[in-house]
Amino acid sequence: MAKLKAAVLISGRGSNMAALIEACRAPDFPAEIALVFSNRAEAPGVAHARRYGIAVEVMSHKGWADREAFDRAMSALLERAGCELVCLAGYMRIFSPWFVARWAERIVNIHPSLLPLFKGLHPQRQALAAGVRLSGCTVHYVTADLDAGPTIAQAAVPVHQDDDEETLAARILEAEHRIYPLVLRWFGEGRVSLQRDDGGERVVVRGVAPGATVLWPT
Ligand code: GRF
Repeated sequence: MAKLKAAVLISGRGSNMAALIEACRAPDFPAEIALVFSNRAEAPGVAHARRYGIAVEVMSHKGWADREAFDRAMSALLERAGCELVCLAGYMRIFSPWFVARWAERIVNIHPSLLPLFKGLHPQRQALAAGVRLSGCTVHYVTADLDAGPTIAQAAVPVHQDDDEETLAARILEAEHRIYPLVLRWFGEGRVSLQRDDGGERVVVRGVAPGATVLWPT
């Protein structure tokens, strides 16, 4: 069966991108990374993707008439590469409404908190400030509202008494690297759907009970 073609959008380090690329190297993995896109040429993830031999496009967001003009050009690159799913992995740009509509239900993001808690910047710092004993990461659909689209999967990790932002971020990142490839696999297998009812929108993953997505890395 044809593999799902995914794009990975980055702006920085690219460790989640690498986790997705690594997962796709398994011959039986149902998805492939057709393109890595970065809005920053100096993003370490760009060099990393090239070392893997993945197709990479870099296009600065500076100098465009507006946000939509940039997004349209980026969208054209994704289309040219045949991408069917867009995976955000530390992509630090807000999309235009046009882009979100164009790729509706085809953009996913990973965020290092258990959403809807701690949206936006520095979620690990927010978690420590709130004194929660549990945090983690969320893979969710991207909608027009920041970090607010329907949840696809979450992984929880403990917050330790002596954690600082760095140690908590590292523990969460470990969970990110496990859960994001898992979600990409689900998409590749065509098991993810968005269902609408009176209670709003809900993601259903065929064959996966919600509890099965909770991981506890040590
Ligand atoms: C990750 O913590 C991800 O959850 C957030 O940005 C960070 C990106 O890290 N959206 P990396 O570039 O994947 O290493």
